[in-house]
Amino acid sequence: MTDSKKAPARPPLKAVRGTRDLLPDQTPLWNHVEATARRLFARYGFSEIRTPIFEATDLFARGVGQETDIVSKEMFTWEDRARAASEKAQTLTLRPENTAGVVRAYIEHQMANSGALQKLYYIGPQFRRERPQRGRYRQFWQIGAEVIGPPSSGSESPLRDAEVLEMLAGFLDELGVRGWRLELNSVGSSQDRVGYNEALRAALQPIRSRLCEDCQRRAETNPLRVLDCKVPEDQPWIDTLPRIADHISADSRAHLDAVCAALEACKVPYHLNPRLVRGLDYYTRTTFEFTVTAGLGAQNAILGGGRYDGLSEMLGGPRAPGIGFAIGEDRLILTLQAQHEEDAKASGAAPVRLLDAYIAPLTPAQNPAALALARELRAAGLRIEVGDGSFKLRKSFEIADSLARHIVLLGEDEAGSGMYTVKTFASGEQTKIPRAKLAESLRGSLEPRRKLRTIERL
Ligand code: HAM
Repeated sequence: MTDSKKAPARPPLKAVRGTRDLLPDQTPLWNHVEATARRLFARYGFSEIRTPIFEATDLFARGVGQETDIVSKEMFTWEDRARAASEKAQTLTLRPENTAGVVRAYIEHQMANSGALQKLYYIGPQFRRERPQRGRYRQFWQIGAEVIGPPSSGSESPLRDAEVLEMLAGFLDELGVRGWRLELNSVGSSQDRVGYNEALRAALQPIRSRLCEDCQRRAETNPLRVLDCKVPEDQPWIDTLPRIADHISADSRAHLDAVCAALEACKVPYHLNPRLVRGLDYYTRTTFEFTVTAGLGAQNAILGGGRYDGLSEMLGGPRAPGIGFAIGEDRLILTLQAQHEEDAKASGAAPVRLLDAYIAPLTPAQNPAALALARELRAAGLRIEVGDGSFKLRKSFEIADSLARHIVLLGEDEAGSGMYTVKTFASGEQTKIPRAKLAESLRGSLEPRRKLRTIERL
């Protein structure tokens, strides 16, 4: 009896709930989105920053806010034991977002000393223990950026807000995202917030006992967070609460007006939404979200962001106002996939063939020569797959048709004469081509390269 027969049957392991594998048929689109972001952000003077995936828990408690859903319910946190006398035990957390980490790095590396505005972007996974559903995962990816600097660098200017928003509109347009909508608000300065919190507390007092347990606590500790409540029974009460738009100072109002004027100059459409407060405590003044219609259902916010003029100081750093955003990459991809499906249905799109050619050796004796030919063509920049001479010709044609634009047959005759039989699937045409012309022909002259959608060419 073999070992495998003796072993008790075990269920196969699966990816943890809320996490996903991105398989090879999906990664070209992810790479395309990321490459587009890198290219576009560079045009606006952004450079990449990579910060650790886990940080001290305190960073998020202080930065994002103890009473937010993210910190109070959703973080993956653990006690990290000291392994040597020189180490301290500490509480660590998988990053639920990356603004706090970037600002921590800004402070730690004294980036303020240059006096310059820092424009930093990042692409990476974030972790929140949320209830998984379409567009909501426990490990998800964000493409984010932060613009931060001392006030003398112009970091407080509404121009910076508008530039970030205009860049995002350009990014979504460049990717071909249809039907996006920019919602914009001001949550006022931290001074404005003092007055607003008072007004909220007063308005919450008489209705407090009717609200959910979390809201009852938040009414005391951080009334602004009552506005994030998702409990349906609380919503009619929440609708009666004062609106932040009525409590912002003339300065904050002027800042918002200036952002709007710059957006209008750039012809970026926006909608003011006085209820948009966003679920993180660090925001001041401008807050925004972009929503889309295709592919997401309830989770239709593909990105969010805003200003955080006091965050650096909250984390023990110098005064360094900033603004940034994070795109939910998973959601953006779902949107693009839904659009591609719509388009394919509308146009009856042909199958996607990613490779230039499939080389089919006709007998196993031709296998080494096939590999050598593939090596030569790949070195010439072509995308090539090699079959196996033990395959029946019909099977080779089937595989080739599903993968590549051409099949190249390699038998004894071809090896001897140096003339290769090439079939082009789109036209059905079959020709003999000398080896010296093969790379050039497969690249395009046999069949003008179909103008593939950008993602198919990656
Ligand atoms: P956020 O609104 O918490 O903001 O997240 C930004 C985006 O990440 C959301 O709009 C959504 O598309 C995506 N996202 C959030 N949670 C999930 C999830 N569980 N599954 C899939 N996608 C998700 C922030 O994270 C701030 N750090 C943004 C920022 C940067 N503000 C200033 N600078």
